[in-house]
Amino acid sequence: MAFFDLLSNVLSNAFIALLILLLVAFLGYCLYIKYTHMKYDHIPGPPRDSFLLGHSPTILRIMREGGMLHDKFLEWAEIYGPVYRINGLHLVILNVACPEATKEVLMSAKHPKDGSTYKKLFYLFGKRFLGNGLITAQDHEMWYKQRRIMDPAFSSLYLRGLMGTFNERAEKMMERLSEIADKNMEAKMLQLVNCVTLDVIAKVAFGVELDLLNTTSPFPKAIEVCLRGMTYYVRDGFFQLKPKNRPFVKEVREACHLLRSTGAKWIHQRKTAMQNGEEVPKDILTHIIKTSAAEETMTEENEKFMLDNFVTFFIAGQETTANQLAFCIMELTRHPEIQEKLRKEVEEVIGMKQEISYDDLGKLVYLSQVLKETLRLYSTAPGTSRELGEEITIDGIRIPVGTSLMFSSYVCGRLERFFKDPLKFDPDRFHPDAPKPYYCYYPFALGPRSCLGQNFAQMEAKVVMAKLIQRFNWELVPGQTFEIEDTGTLRPKSGVVCSVKHRKNDI
Ligand code: HEM
Repeated sequence: MAFFDLLSNVLSNAFIALLILLLVAFLGYCLYIKYTHMKYDHIPGPPRDSFLLGHSPTILRIMREGGMLHDKFLEWAEIYGPVYRINGLHLVILNVACPEATKEVLMSAKHPKDGSTYKKLFYLFGKRFLGNGLITAQDHEMWYKQRRIMDPAFSSLYLRGLMGTFNERAEKMMERLSEIADKNMEAKMLQLVNCVTLDVIAKVAFGVELDLLNTTSPFPKAIEVCLRGMTYYVRDGFFQLKPKNRPFVKEVREACHLLRSTGAKWIHQRKTAMQNGEEVPKDILTHIIKTSAAEETMTEENEKFMLDNFVTFFIAGQETTANQLAFCIMELTRHPEIQEKLRKEVEEVIGMKQEISYDDLGKLVYLSQVLKETLRLYSTAPGTSRELGEEITIDGIRIPVGTSLMFSSYVCGRLERFFKDPLKFDPDRFHPDAPKPYYCYYPFALGPRSCLGQNFAQMEAKVVMAKLIQRFNWELVPGQTFEIEDTGTLRPKSGVVCSVKHRKNDI
C-alpha cells in the first residue's frame, strides 16, 4: 500500500513539475512574442487578431474560403502605406510596396532569399521537393554556381533554336482548336495552354515528347497538387497535423514522388546516352547534369540535387506561362478593340504564314504590350521575399537586419499610386514611348535572382497568342467568372472556357 502511495505521490509531483515547466515555457514564448512585437511595432500594420496568433486567423480564414490572400495584402497596402507588418506567432514579415526599397533590396546580392519561405520548400510534407535548386537555393555561392552553368541554355542564340518547337507545339493546339470550332464544342483554354507549355518544357528542357493534347498524363495534375500543397505548407504550420487534411497531404507526397521519380528516370536515360557516346542536346537537362559533380564523385546528395533542379524547371518552366496565356485570352474577351488592334498587327507581321520566326517576334510590339499588361494585373508568380542582410530605412522607418521582406508584384501592379486606374486593362501603359514603371512592376522579380526563363516564356507566349489571334475568334461561355485562384501561382478560377470560331468564317 505504502509503495502505491509513494508512486502516486511521485507521479503527481512529476505531473505538477511538468505543468509548471510547460507554463514557464509558454510564458517564455509569450515574452519572446512580446519582444518581437516591440521590435517591429514602430512599423504600421493592421490590428492583430490576437496577441499569440497575430494576423494568422485572418489569413487562414481567407485561404479556407478559397479567397485571394493577395487582395487582402493589397487592401492593407492601400491603408498602411509603403511598408507594413504582418504577425503570426513569433514570426513577422513586412510587405513592401516602395520602389526605392524594392530597388535597394532586390537589385543587391546582400539580401538572400528569405529562409522562412524558401527553406520550407526544401521539403513538402516531409518529401524532398525543390531542395537546393535554383529558385530555393539561399547560399549565394551555391546559387551562383548553378546559375552560371544554366545561363547558356537561356542565351538568345540558344532560344532562337527553340522557335521550331514553340511553333510545332502551338500548331498542335491550333489543330485541336480547329476541331473544337468545327464541332461547336467548348474549349477549356487554361487546360489547352497548360498542355502546350508542358509539352514545350518537356521537349526543350528534357528532350521528352509528351504530346499532352492527344494523350492523358498525370503530370498536369501532379504539378497543380504540388503547388496547392506548397501554399498550405508555407502559410499554415499546423496544416498537416489536422486529421482531415491527411488525404490531401498523402496526395501531395505522391505527386512530389511522381515528379522526382520521373526526373530520376529521365536523368538516368540521358546519362546512359552520354556514357554511350551518343550525341545529346545541349538542353536544360544536360546543364542540370553539369551542375552536379563529375560522375566518379557522384554522391547520393548530388543525385538529389539534380532532381531538385529537375522539379524546379518542370514547375517553373510551365505553369506561370500557361496561366499568363489563359489570363490574356480571358481579358481579350472583354476588349474587342484590343483584339482588333492585335489582329491588325499580326496580319501585318505574320500574314497567313504558319511558321513564326524569331525576327517576327520582335515586330509584334503591341502583343508584347498586351502580355506585359496581363502580367501587371495578373502577376502569375505574385511575389518574392528576402531576408535583410543589413539594416535599411523605408519611407523614414528603420527596418532591422534579419527582417523578412515580402515584395508583391501583384500588389504593386494594382496600386493606384503606381498605375492610374489600376483595374483598367490598358496595354498602352507599356507603349515603347511611355515612361517605364519605376521598380513597381516586376512579374519576373528583379536583380540577380530574377527569372531565368523570362525571355523563353515571353517568346513561347507570343507564338501561341499570335497563332490564336491569326486563326480564331473566341468568347467566354456564359457562367465564367473573372476571378483569380491562388494556388501559390495565380490562375483564372473558372478555367477560361470559350466558344471558338474560325476567323475566316467570320469575315
Ligand atoms: C510568365 C512566365 C513566368 C513568370 C511570371 C515567372 C516569374 C518568376 C519569378 C517571379 C521568379 C522569382 C521567384 C522567387 O523569387 O521566388 C522566377 C524565378 C525563376 N524562374 Fe520564372 N517565371 C516564368 C517563366 C519561367 C520559365 C518558362 C522558366 C524556365 C524555362 C523559368 C525559370 C525560372 C528559374 C530557374 C527561376 C529562378 C532564378 C534564380 O533564382 O536564379 N521561369 N520566375
